Amino acid sequence: MRAIGIESGGDRPRLFDVDRPDPAPGEVLVRTLRVGVDGTDHEVITGDHGGFPAGEERLVLGHEAVGVVVDPTTTDFERGDVVAPMVRRPPPGGTNAYFERAEPDMAPPSACVERGIDGAHGFMSEYFTSPAPFLIPVPEVHAAWGFLAEPISVLEKALDLARTSRSSFTWEPETALVLGNGPLGLLAVALLAPEMDVYCLGRRDRPDPTIDLLESLDATYVDARETPVGSVPAAYDPADLVVEATGAPRHAVESVDALAPNGVAALLGLPGSQELTVDAGRFHEDLVLHNKAIVGSVNAGPTHFHAAVDRLDALPAWFFDRYVTDLVSVDRFEAAFGPDTTIKAAVEFDTV
Ligand code: NAP
Ligand code: BGC
Ligand code: ZN
Repeated sequence: MRAIGIESGGDRPRLFDVDRPDPAPGEVLVRTLRVGVDGTDHEVITGDHGGFPAGEERLVLGHEAVGVVVDPTTTDFERGDVVAPMVRRPPPGGTNAYFERAEPDMAPPSACVERGIDGAHGFMSEYFTSPAPFLIPVPEVHAAWGFLAEPISVLEKALDLARTSRSSFTWEPETALVLGNGPLGLLAVALLAPEMDVYCLGRRDRPDPTIDLLESLDATYVDARETPVGSVPAAYDPADLVVEATGAPRHAVESVDALAPNGVAALLGLPGSQELTVDAGRFHEDLVLHNKAIVGSVNAGPTHFHAAVDRLDALPAWFFDRYVTDLVSVDRFEAAFGPDTTIKAAVEFDTV
């Protein structure tokens, strides 16, 4: 079967011919429909994040997937069920407390592998297998956009952590600042815009489809070149909530400057190394005197995945059509990774 992945020493994804996997009892064989591409995939391709499975020189990419069950083996799934796989699996040495508690997202990197990212093959192949507990049912009506359950689940978790950190007092966020107008940032805008005023930071000139999309969601575009993060409160509004989705290290620090008193910043980006000069005293004092919080958040567990599937119902249909701009067949897979993608790219392997 065809699979898309990277090889040691290579600098771009390639098409491989690999064996179709055989599901063991308790596993499910899934026929892949669509697999999304995000900034993390690009970081994996460049070697800035993740790695090959132990002892291998090749990694099948893809961690945002949706597919159809073709062989449920001994599990409760039925042939024809639509499913989205979770990303994390126990490490080669065996399971651990994080997985036993069904909290794989809380495992440190040494206690898990991530399919398509770090240490385990992903879902960018015509078929994949998975143990049943790592598959989340998706209503068939959402089969087309079910691959977005994974990135939405990441945001559901981050927003949950942010809200929970503010749960000891009356916190009624009215304003959010999303840093980044890439695929993750725009999804965050779509989730938050029905609930509060949303500003979204980018660094692009108009006309630009990401700016058009965020404005269609009633958000306000903030051009980082004119208004850096720390100037947002004076130029626009202080933010009760910041969602960082740029991967720019300075935003981890500057997001605190953008917060209103009692606000929280959720950091999602996966930056490389970068040194900054920071007034640590002012940063520290601002956090303390204004009861501000920063939470880092990675991956998502089953609860947030189920919430993400519910969001597929809540988001307007027009949003998916405008958000997924580059849906390409396996034959044209390079286009999903190329520099010319517009907003969100995905590879289509098959239809329901
Ligand atoms: P992406 O495609 O790289 O998008 C990042 C966006 O941020 C781009 O639109 C970029 O603008 C913008 N940006 C970068 N630096 C900026 C700056 N200094 N000022 C203003 N805008 C800036 O990545 P993505 O898929 O949206 O994901 C965002 C980040 O989250 C990535 O680092 C990714 O690895 C990470 N991520 C983390 C998780 C998690 O579980 N924590 C999950 C998914 C993704 P241009 O396009 O104009 O350059
Ligand atoms: C994925 C997460 C993963 C994270 C770190 C993100 O792009 O969506 O599932 O945990 O990267 O590798
Ligand atoms: Zn991702």
